[in-house]
Amino acid sequence: MTTRITIRKPDDWHLHVRDGEMLKAVLPFTAKHFGRAILMPNLVPPVRTCADGKAYRERVIAALPRGSTFKPLMTCYLTDDTDPDDVERGFRDGVFTGVKLYPAHATTNSAYGVTDYNKITRVLERMEKIGMPFLMHGEYVATDVDIFDREKVFIERLLSKWIRQFPGLRMILEHLSSKEGVDFVKSAAPQLGGTITPYHMMLTRNDWLGHGLKPYMYVMPVIKTERDRLALRRAAASGEACYFLGTDSAPHPYAKKVSVSGIPGMFNAPVAIETYAQVFEEEGALDKLEAFASLNGPKHYRMPPNEETITLEKTPWTAPEEVKVPGPDQRALIYRGGETISWKVVN
Ligand code: NCD
Ligand code: ZN
Repeated sequence: MTTRITIRKPDDWHLHVRDGEMLKAVLPFTAKHFGRAILMPNLVPPVRTCADGKAYRERVIAALPRGSTFKPLMTCYLTDDTDPDDVERGFRDGVFTGVKLYPAHATTNSAYGVTDYNKITRVLERMEKIGMPFLMHGEYVATDVDIFDREKVFIERLLSKWIRQFPGLRMILEHLSSKEGVDFVKSAAPQLGGTITPYHMMLTRNDWLGHGLKPYMYVMPVIKTERDRLALRRAAASGEACYFLGTDSAPHPYAKKVSVSGIPGMFNAPVAIETYAQVFEEEGALDKLEAFASLNGPKHYRMPPNEETITLEKTPWTAPEEVKVPGPDQRALIYRGGETISWKVVN
């Protein structure tokens, strides 16, 4: 039985670190074990321009623990009015790694998101031309679409069309949540890649809704069925190049999670790489963890993998329940808080 594994330092290809005091409180958890992370731009107001991206990157770097070598990778929040020239400037100047699509009203802070897909054609054409990645919150939100089918319908109505319309555009379907999503990514690789969260591989909607409502487990895309969970685990554990790590760690103040109108997002950075290791062990695929966590993502984003390594050991520890954040009731609950975590990063 493997009880110790050393892999190249992983990267997180989908992460929310927020801003202000929350940023300072949560960023160290990721900076400790990950080399780089794609930072989501859904702040209030969002990171929409090259100037916003530069300013946010500076705030993130200022919030890093002293001596940290962690590198934040910024993304541009796509709106109906995004200027292709500004996006291109951001990419060429190394400010933006990619552009992120939030369909309007699909998730947390998506009110500025895209409402009319005809309006983004010029931006997508430009990104295709300059080789800039397109990151997607892949859900179709409409009254005729059930919330559990949003990912599938996004693929049917939009993504399958874009794959043909923009054959040179590199895309990422983020936080895959369904078997349909998993299968589609494989069918459209290598043009398309997909990230997988730890919680979509651990939980089903029975955990969320079946034994007392757990508002904490409310995330977008919503957690689905056992069939979906197993498909996600098999995809990640296959080590195939089109699937890679993206935690979607998304901290929120306690009162916003546990509320009559709760907000989607789960803060998992403190247990993320350890939970992935557990999943890969359970799938008998610890030998594929490095591909998923540290090699496939950089390959898709055309970056070199990290040179440093991390070592995980099978040493049980208890995850903290929450992280304290200065300010009135700003503390954030931690996914798996209070649980025994079987793997631990030891260097
Ligand atoms: C994310 C957040 O809180 O910003 N929430 C979530 O449920 N995953 C946004 C997102 O990635 O959808
Ligand atoms: Zn997210």
